[in-house]
Amino acid sequence: MIIETQDDVTRAVLAEMQRTPDPRTKEILSALVRHLHSFVKEVRMTEKEFQAAIGYLNAVGQKTTPSHNEAMLIAGALGVSNLVCLMNNGLKGTRPTQANNLGPFFREDAPHCENGASLLRSPTPGPTLSFRGWVKDIEQNPVAGAVVDVWHSSPVGLYENQDATQAEMNLRGKFTTAADGSFSFVSVKPAGYPVPTDGPNGALLAAQKRHNMRPAHVHFLIHKPGYKTIASQVYDPSDPHLETDSQFGVTRALIGNYVKTADDAYTLEFTFVIEPGDSARPRAPITRKVAA
Ligand SMILES: [Fe+2]
Repeated sequence: MIIETQDDVTRAVLAEMQRTPDPRTKEILSALVRHLHSFVKEVRMTEKEFQAAIGYLNAVGQKTTPSHNEAMLIAGALGVSNLVCLMNNGLKGTRPTQANNLGPFFREDAPHCENGASLLRSPTPGPTLSFRGWVKDIEQNPVAGAVVDVWHSSPVGLYENQDATQAEMNLRGKFTTAADGSFSFVSVKPAGYPVPTDGPNGALLAAQKRHNMRPAHVHFLIHKPGYKTIASQVYDPSDPHLETDSQFGVTRALIGNYVKTADDAYTLEFTFVIEPGDSARPRAPITRKVAA
């Protein structure tokens, strides 16, 4: 159609989308155009702001590498990651869930470990953390044979992929639940950490005078065919940023009971519930660590 008014632009784009054969693709893209055009009108977007927005989107892609995922960081900083998570877990958002954001630092191919094994693959000073977890179904029956990926930051707040001084796959491991649904490992207690701010995510936070800290946590990914694969994070309630997580990941169900047993030792026990569903594993946001 020939465009005569501002509203004609939206009508023209939606009309061209009518031939989209896949109904879900059509629904998503039509809603995107309606909301995007409405957003542009609501904020009365100037040409200068439009150019800045295009530059911002391009910078997100340019910042992303095999060891860094800027788009995932921004999805978290805008609260979209956890919104999508809560809508799609806990029986479609009707119950509390242990599911949580995958985050930008998950890597596939962590080494398989025996229960009780250490996650340390290079010297990593810090307080010991002894973890024991259980995986159960929604009727509280133990789930044996689930594969649980574990990963976390070091006591100075760096994941191995960000830190050339840590060995490949340090503080990462893959465990299999026993007949009683349990799995366990020994590691060091992770620290809270700043998310990277040297790219567009940093510009977003700075413009809003927001800090870039995440409260200390351990990540999990729980996978067993027949059950919905979930990512999870268990947070340290003593962390000063528990209530102001820059990635909006902290939910009530995921505050862990980190128990101090000695000056330099903690224990943590936690039960994860998984529900029937699609066991497809999420795509890893990164594929390797930074070069030494
Ligand atoms: Fe994390």
